[in-house]
Amino acid sequence: MRIEIPREVERFGPVQIHDVQKVWELDAGLKLKELEPKEKERRVITRISYESLQDIQEQMAIVVPIKDEKIKLLEGVLAGIPHECLVILVSNSKREPVDRYKIEMDALNHMSKFMKKDIFIAHQKAPLLAQACKDAGYEYILDDKGEVRSGKAEGMILSTILAYLCGKKYIGFIDSDNYFPGAVYEYVQEYSAALYSAKSDYSMVRIAWHSKPKIVESSLFFAKRGRASEHTNKVLNMLMSSYTGYGTEIIKTGNAGEHAMSMDLALNIDYSSGYSIEPYHYINVLERFGGVIDSPSADVMKQGIQFFQIESRNPHLHEVKGDEHVKSMSREAMEVIYRSPLCPDHLKQEILIDLYNRGLLKEGEEMPETVRYYPALTKVNMLKFKQALAKASFAEFLKADLSKYKHKNGKKKLARETVKSKDHLPDPHEQLEIK
Ligand code: GDD
Repeated sequence: MRIEIPREVERFGPVQIHDVQKVWELDAGLKLKELEPKEKERRVITRISYESLQDIQEQMAIVVPIKDEKIKLLEGVLAGIPHECLVILVSNSKREPVDRYKIEMDALNHMSKFMKKDIFIAHQKAPLLAQACKDAGYEYILDDKGEVRSGKAEGMILSTILAYLCGKKYIGFIDSDNYFPGAVYEYVQEYSAALYSAKSDYSMVRIAWHSKPKIVESSLFFAKRGRASEHTNKVLNMLMSSYTGYGTEIIKTGNAGEHAMSMDLALNIDYSSGYSIEPYHYINVLERFGGVIDSPSADVMKQGIQFFQIESRNPHLHEVKGDEHVKSMSREAMEVIYRSPLCPDHLKQEILIDLYNRGLLKEGEEMPETVRYYPALTKVNMLKFKQALAKASFAEFLKADLSKYKHKNGKKKLARETVKSKDHLPDPHEQLEIK
């Protein structure tokens, strides 16, 4: 892959947010290929060989969350994931009246005869997984019935634990309703390119789609951003600006469902429920490590956190789930920003006005509390989680070497719990080291 270096970077304490990077060549050849004489001068472009991407993919799990999607779509998505990645399908599909999960398993068995992939599937509501959460001291994602809660985030959290237990160093997410296997392939290549280039062990890469095709007046129109994303990005950027004192448009991937990160980062951030999980990545990293609020981890602070945003080349075409779905996703994104102890009062007002204007809240209504927060996975006792899964159908994949693992019984709290109200916050301008 040949990819431009980020032109801009915003710094928020030790957190670096890199500007969107453009891909110039999806495949830039093998490692040993001789460099063109002028190559070294073109420092604005990085060439990442096929082998280097593959090296990252050998250490990467790709999680595919699925809930009642068409099997044909799933088949395409699986076909697009590069061979070296381990694939974890986490399903919350209906079991009744039609057992859609069984259909998914059948389809997977059938596909496995043709595809040669390391892949397994787990149902989010499986009693064994709920038991593993209980045994491991991570009951936060369980509901009153003792089952893992529904939601994309909850499925992602579970599969992050599974990926860790599989010994993976990186984890990436790909939605199961993508129409273009070629886009799926590209996203994973871009995850690998960014994580290969990362200087910190705590890094994340998010895909900014090149375009999202729609039919407008009987013609194809390639829209640049999704409807929810525009608002989320704007407000996230305003939040950054309110601390740095400079206007910015650096964040272009506030809602990015397609993203990947190092396992070190995945274990050290808090999560929020449902579709708010992606914007909350930004919020939580700024809360935990931005330097404004006490940080729970000195090592993360020292190494810094790097966000990369890569503009993909393929158009992004996925199942359309309707207006109400997009509205609730957008409202949840606004809620996690609004509820952050970092969010200044003036921005809270702006968020409410935006939600009133878009009809996502009634005029004068307060922000409802719909989002749940889950603490970082350092709270999970991984040994106990693994033991509980000894009889799982996918137990053979859980081969991480835990011989040196010591559970520190996570003293870490939710970043949101570290301050009670905004009054307790130190002056951010004194705290931040803006380089
Ligand atoms: N395991 C699991 N559990 N998977 C789920 C659940 C659940 O409760 N709910 C949804 N999924 C799966 C879907 O089957 C799909 O593959 C993926 O999660 C994304 O869900 P969609 O409902 O299709 O979301 P979307 O396409 O509208 O939004 C996507 O893009 C947004 C950015 O525009 C998601 O990735 C969002 O998280 C993202 O913000």
